[in-house]
Amino acid sequence: MTSTTNLPGPMDPLDQLETLRAAAPDQIASAASLADLDDVEAVTVGKRSPIAEARRRLATVPTENRPAVGKAINDVAKEIGRLIDDRRTVLAIEEQNALLAAEAVDVTLPGRRPKRGTTHLIQQVMDEVVDIFVSLGYTVASGPEAETEFYNFTAMNMPNTHPARLEQDTFYLDYGENPEEILLRTHTSPMQARYMEEHRPPVHVVVPGRVYRRDYDSTHMPVFHQIEGLAVDTDITFQDLKGTLDYFAKEFFGPETETKFLPSYFPFTEPSAEMHAYADGRWLELLGCGMVNPAVYEHVGYDPDEVTGFAFGMGAERLAMVRHGIKDIRSLYDPDVRGLEQYR
Ligand code: DAH
Repeated sequence: MTSTTNLPGPMDPLDQLETLRAAAPDQIASAASLADLDDVEAVTVGKRSPIAEARRRLATVPTENRPAVGKAINDVAKEIGRLIDDRRTVLAIEEQNALLAAEAVDVTLPGRRPKRGTTHLIQQVMDEVVDIFVSLGYTVASGPEAETEFYNFTAMNMPNTHPARLEQDTFYLDYGENPEEILLRTHTSPMQARYMEEHRPPVHVVVPGRVYRRDYDSTHMPVFHQIEGLAVDTDITFQDLKGTLDYFAKEFFGPETETKFLPSYFPFTEPSAEMHAYADGRWLELLGCGMVNPAVYEHVGYDPDEVTGFAFGMGAERLAMVRHGIKDIRSLYDPDVRGLEQYR
């Protein structure tokens, strides 16, 4: 300020305006954002700016000078106002562009792949076995896992004294009228009886399913999976059994696979056999089988003099282990997926 009096001299506001006019363009140009520019606007042409101050002081300017001083103030205000407007336009475009750039999606970036899951090895084996028999004309059925002792044992010709019925082998459930009436099925064979009760021969059915036993070691789990098979008609022979199961082994393990049948015992088949297959340089037991015992037909209302048939049952875990050389059944249930990922 050049004034030394309390009342400012008539030219003081104009001096300040000159300073403002000289400094404003740089200030405006260096405003980096719309918000900065608002601040610059406030101190250059706003209420507390030298312009406003000059207008307030116009009253003290001698009348004859007032129009010229007033015009000078307005000129500076307009000039600065124009610079601010231009800068505002530029900053608005810049900010809009920055926003667009920040929100831009690069459609050329490779996508993030979701981790691909897979069917569990045991399910794969069951699906494959079922497919082989479906290709031979078999239908697929499933039955209850909580089963009655009648279907699980009695209908399968396993008398009260049969060792499989023992508490130490079987999970009995606390349902039903009698303590040992309902249990977790110990095999899929009870579906033979259930299926025959509902269907007349010819019957060709496979039953994949979960079964339960009180067993736990490197080759036994308390929960495991079986595929049951049943073929009943008027003239089925042991040759049909051998031909069908040998075909299955060749489909499942490869066309070179050799099979052999060894005598065995199951209450629900007579005669009974185990089928072994030659794989990895040794004979491996794959499944149990046999001609359906006439006693089973009697339980389901079939006439044993009119029908013949064969049945078989195999463990899915065992097939998986034999095929892939898996030594411990428990690795099939290991929650670390790196093991199972090998068998996509
Ligand atoms: N149910 C038998 C088991 O769990 C397996 C079996 C053997 C099923 C012979 C059959 C068969 O249908 O004929 O050990």
